Amino acid sequence: MAYNLLRGKKGIIFGALDEKSIAWKTAQRCKAEGAELVLTNAPIALRMGTINQLAEEVNAPVIPADVTVTADIENLFTQAQEHFGGKIDFVLHSIGMSINVRKGVHYTENNYDFTHKGMDISALSLHRILQVAMKQDAISEWGSVIALTYIAAQRVFPDYNDMADNKAMLESIARNFGYQYGVKKNVRINTISQSPTRTTAGSGVKGFDGFVDFAEKMSPLGNANADQCADYCVTLFSDLTRMVTMQNLFHDGGFSFTGVTQAIIDQMGK
Ligand SMILES: NC(=O)c1ccc[n+]([C@@H]2O[C@H](COP(=O)([O-])OP(=O)(O)OC[C@H]3O[C@@H](n4cnc5c(N)ncnc54)[C@H](O)[C@@H]3O)[C@@H](O)[C@H]2O)c1
Repeated sequence: MAYNLLRGKKGIIFGALDEKSIAWKTAQRCKAEGAELVLTNAPIALRMGTINQLAEEVNAPVIPADVTVTADIENLFTQAQEHFGGKIDFVLHSIGMSINVRKGVHYTENNYDFTHKGMDISALSLHRILQVAMKQDAISEWGSVIALTYIAAQRVFPDYNDMADNKAMLESIARNFGYQYGVKKNVRINTISQSPTRTTAGSGVKGFDGFVDFAEKMSPLGNANADQCADYCVTLFSDLTRMVTMQNLFHDGGFSFTGVTQAIIDQMGK
């Protein structure tokens, strides 16, 4: 069901790779709620993924941008404003990548070239996007920016590797830039800490299926899926949440505040 929550709003969605991507589902939901969109992803992802299918469905242009390249982000914001004929009301940062994870390098043995690259893509990119947006004064007053994160920023999940550090930094940037952009333009910036979700990025983590099953049993409501995450993003892009900023918001069926569940106790007793 749609409520027209984003009627007249214009947004940039980073990170739709294929139909499993959280960004893909969010683009579909935003469109259904009346938003106009620009889609973006890294040039290599545009070649490998199926983003053009989504672009057609949501009637949005695709503007390539590698989030580690400032000139790409500048071009993206300039072109997006030209396309919309005005400022941007919301931005979804749905981007993550760790070469250490991908190559199976143990956390204690991390290759720092890989670490730097992963940090640049997964965390610093939020700062870069916000810096460019602020310089171009590209986001409307009371605009909303969301980045997706995971609870490994607060608690140890060993196989999440250096992505845990990247997510801690991402959440910190959301808080600190949230302060600055709030004071300057009333722009709000939050992170959503999502349940483990079967996507390309998610499935790259070692033992991911076990991880998903454990979280499912440890969450009173079960795991939140990508469609439900998209719903939550819509609420945060809407005018109904104008006073929410600098928060890390758990969207995880209650996992983050659960010590143990009967389902886990039963499993342990087997
Ligand atoms: N899947 C999960 O279990 C889960 C849980 C919590 C949070 N998250 C977060 O959700 C976000 C979206 O991930 P997803 O699970 O939908 O997976 P996904 O693989 O569909 O999305 C990751 C995206 O990052 C993009 N990307 C990588 N390098 C880039 C670069 N240099 N420039 C621009 N874009 C680049 C990829 O092309 C891809 O579209 C990530 O931040 C991820 O960490 C995922």
